[in-house]
Amino acid sequence: MTPTPDEILHRVQDEHEAIRTQIESLLESTREVRRSSADAPRLWQPTLELCRTLQRHLDFEDEAFLPLLADSDAWGPVRVESIGDDHRAERAMIAALVEDIAAGTRSDAELVDEIAWFLKALEHDMFDEERLALDGDVASTECVSIDQSDG
Ligand SMILES: [Fe+2]
Repeated sequence: MTPTPDEILHRVQDEHEAIRTQIESLLESTREVRRSSADAPRLWQPTLELCRTLQRHLDFEDEAFLPLLADSDAWGPVRVESIGDDHRAERAMIAALVEDIAAGTRSDAELVDEIAWFLKALEHDMFDEERLALDGDVASTECVSIDQSDG
């Protein structure tokens, strides 16, 4: 069954919340590792899990959310282009990070720095995406349709 616009928006928001929780937890772990300069490899597994979650999230947004946003108003295609650029950059960052963790050629400290940088970039992109899309006309379209239902 095709999800409704409301279901798509709620799923995006729910996934952002879950991803933000993962990011915050991992950022705290990177701070702990930097403080103690020990046990950096414990970051690799949760980082790879976050990468998998993100890939699924990006797939869903590209397939369901961006087409909805494109049709939302006159600025939809412009916002879709901007978010699409961010998604391509995120996919490239994910691929590089997964490869660096698997290759084992970078030092633990370098990988921790790369993970911290990746998490900060993700936080920034998610904030941008919410500002461009979820706080905008797609969300208000839902409110307008609800408001108009009684006349
Ligand atoms: Fe997103």
